[in-house]
Amino acid sequence: MDAEQIALLEAMRADNARAGFPFAPRGCWINLCQDFHEKFRAGGVPKDDIAYFNQSFSQSLPGNPRYHRYAVYMLYRLVKQRDAANLLERFDWTSDTGFEIAIDGRRYAWDTLISLDTVLSIAEADPGILNQPRIVADLGAGWGRIGYVLKRINPQVSYVVLDLPEILMISMSVLPRMLPRESVSLYREMSKLGSLSRQVLQSCGLWFGGSQDLLRIEDGGIDVFINIASFQEMKLSQVRAYFDLIDRKVTGTFYTQQYVVVSDAQRPYNAISGLEEYPFKAPWTEHFKRHVTFSERFFEACFGVKQPVSARCPAFASWRSTSMARSSIAAKS
Ligand SMILES: C[S@@+](CC[C@H](N)C(=O)[O-])C[C@H]1O[C@@H](n2cnc3c(N)ncnc32)[C@H](O)[C@@H]1O
Repeated sequence: MDAEQIALLEAMRADNARAGFPFAPRGCWINLCQDFHEKFRAGGVPKDDIAYFNQSFSQSLPGNPRYHRYAVYMLYRLVKQRDAANLLERFDWTSDTGFEIAIDGRRYAWDTLISLDTVLSIAEADPGILNQPRIVADLGAGWGRIGYVLKRINPQVSYVVLDLPEILMISMSVLPRMLPRESVSLYREMSKLGSLSRQVLQSCGLWFGGSQDLLRIEDGGIDVFINIASFQEMKLSQVRAYFDLIDRKVTGTFYTQQYVVVSDAQRPYNAISGLEEYPFKAPWTEHFKRHVTFSERFFEACFGVKQPVSARCPAFASWRSTSMARSSIAAKS
C-alpha cells in the first residue's frame, strides 16, 4: 500500500470503530478484515485478480464442493421441468453411488440425474422404453447407471451391458446387488450361449457380455442401443465399425451422447474429432441432435434404425443456440 492508501484505510477504520454498533464488524468479519489488511500490507490492494478476496464475497474457487451441490440442484430442477413421466416423484432414487445431496426430502446423485435425463430423452423417440418390453444394449456402460434407472422405471427391460473386462468386473459386482430382484446372466453364463436371439435376451433382466459379444446378438435383435461417453474416446475407424454393427443389430433406436469437440485428454490418442466426424448413416431417421441438458460441451443424438415410417417421431428442434458450438450443430441440422 502507498502512504495515501495507508492513511485512507486508517481513517476509515477509525470512523467505523467510532460508529460502533451496528456498523462495526463482528464475528468472522473481524478476522477477515484483519487478514485482508495483512494481505494489503504484503502485496498491496488488488487491482485485477480479486479471486482470493472474492471467496469471502460471492465466488468460491473452482473445485469448491459447494459447486457440486449447486450443479446437482440445478440439474434436478432442469430434469423436473421435463419430467412428464414423473420419474423423480415415482421412485426413491437414494443410492450409494456417492456424493448425494438432499433435495425436497429425497437424496439425489449427479449420476442419477444425468441418467434420468437421458432416459427422458430416449423416451421422446421411444416412449415404450418406460413401460414396454425392450432389449436395451449399453455399449461401454461403466457401472451400468443407465441400466439401473431403466430397470427401476421399467422392469420389462432386458438390459445388456457390453464392456471391457475390467469394467465388467465392476458392473457385475455392483448392478445385481443394486437390483436384487432381477434375473442375471453373468459373463460366464452368457459366454456359454451361442447366438443371442431376441427370445433368449428377453428371458433375463440383466446381461453382462464383452464388447465383442455384440457380434453374437441376433441381427435386428436390439430395440435400443446406447453409447454414452465411449465413442468419443475411440478413433474414427473404430466408431465406423461399431456403427456398421449398430446398423445390423438394431431395429429401433440408437441413442448416443458424446463430446461435441474431442477433449484435450483424448486428442493424443487420435480420438474422433467431434460431432462433425460421426458417421451417422443416411437411412437412419434423426429424432434429435442437440446439446445435453447439463452442458454445451456434449451433444445427444438419437436415430431410428430400420424403423417403419409410421413409428418415427417428429424431429425435435426446441433447443436454442447460445454458443458457437451450438450454432455449429444447428447449422448441420
Ligand atoms: C467414460 S466411460 C463411460 C461409461 C458410461 N457410459 C457412463 O456414461 O457412465 C467409457 C466406457 O467405454 C468403455 N470402452 C472403452 N473402450 C471400449 C471399446 N473398445 N468397446 C466398448 N466399450 C469400450 C469403457 O470400458 C467405459 O465403460
